[in-house]
Amino acid sequence: MPTLRLKNLTRAYGQIRAVDNVDLDIRDGEFLSLLGPSGCGKTTTLRMIAGFIDPSGGTIEVDGRVLSSASGSVPPERRGMSMIFQSYAIWPNMTVAENVGFGLVLRKLPSAEIKQRVGQVLDVVQLGTLAHRYPAELSGGQQQRVALARAIVVQPSVLLLDEPLSNLDANLREEMRTEIRRLHEAFRITTVYVTHDQAEAMATSDRIAVMNRGRVEQVDAPYTIYARPRTRFVAGFIGRTNFIEGRRDRSQIRFDGFAVDAARLEGVDATASTITASVRPQSLSLSSERPADADGRIQIPGRIVERTFLGEHWDYVFAAASSNLRLKVAARPSDVFAVDTDTWLALDPKQLVVIQ
Ligand SMILES: Nc1ncnc2c1ncn2[C@@H]1O[C@H](COP(=O)(O)OP(=O)(O)O)[C@@H](O)[C@H]1O
Ligand SMILES: [Mg+2]
Repeated sequence: MPTLRLKNLTRAYGQIRAVDNVDLDIRDGEFLSLLGPSGCGKTTTLRMIAGFIDPSGGTIEVDGRVLSSASGSVPPERRGMSMIFQSYAIWPNMTVAENVGFGLVLRKLPSAEIKQRVGQVLDVVQLGTLAHRYPAELSGGQQQRVALARAIVVQPSVLLLDEPLSNLDANLREEMRTEIRRLHEAFRITTVYVTHDQAEAMATSDRIAVMNRGRVEQVDAPYTIYARPRTRFVAGFIGRTNFIEGRRDRSQIRFDGFAVDAARLEGVDATASTITASVRPQSLSLSSERPADADGRIQIPGRIVERTFLGEHWDYVFAAASSNLRLKVAARPSDVFAVDTDTWLALDPKQLVVIQ
């Protein structure tokens, strides 16, 4: 049974539809990210879930009960949700333990219970030994943990996070996204996490909803989003890719310089005369000799026309010898090819993903 359901959710500002007909089910205990570029409607969606903004159309339901609709909404404080903003603030004049326990004091819980719950959450976020420090005596990452602990300790039905790591430096962001996932495994609170950072979404989430211009383009597990993107936008936003255009020729799809049996490609529209496919630079491989064993792969002769060394891998641009095909190829640091050398490209048709 889904906990949180967005149905045709829409929010307009004048002519702009900040959120445009979003349908989304977030399951009980699930960690779901809203991922997309700046301005695509992530924050507006999250603030509607929290109850800070009313929809212009559509509804938000929790376990079948309508919380938000154009005709009225349950106020934020009666939703049992916790939200952490981009510019989270912890109170400078309270210790770590007081910051974390504050929500429980407001709820008038017995002080023994407050102490016990605060202690438990602080242990999980590894701040147990710092309970009596003040925020000024903490690092940025530790302050972030306090904010997380404070949101979790009240045992919200839903946890909402809006780019909570964007004020941290790159190393700390990486550490905290693992931490956030670990916290989720410990407490299993239904979570909606807003970010424009694909690595963050992939590291934390059970599923990712990719948003573009107010709409959700695809909702899937991180692996599927990356390996089987359904739209051009999703393929291009999650990692780098090559787009190639093909046209149907009886039972085959002809690309520039090679052809594939249509039956070998998933998701080819039987009526379409042209298709677009995405192939990741990482799924292509280069070699200086023609590989003896093709193993079902397509082999194309050509040469390297550009290369960039990025430490963890090479970025090559391969140009086919007898067609206009040009593809970005990512290769291991030890796979060194000079510009202008003749090479062979191998492409496994299974790595071609048909895009809508
Ligand atoms: N209060 C507002 N008034 C007018 N336009 C707004 C308001 N809030 C958001 N928008 C517009 O709605 C769109 C989505 O904004 P937002 O949800 O903040 O995007 P994101 O969080 O994905 O960056 C943007 O074009 C933004 O300018
Ligand atoms: Mg935002």
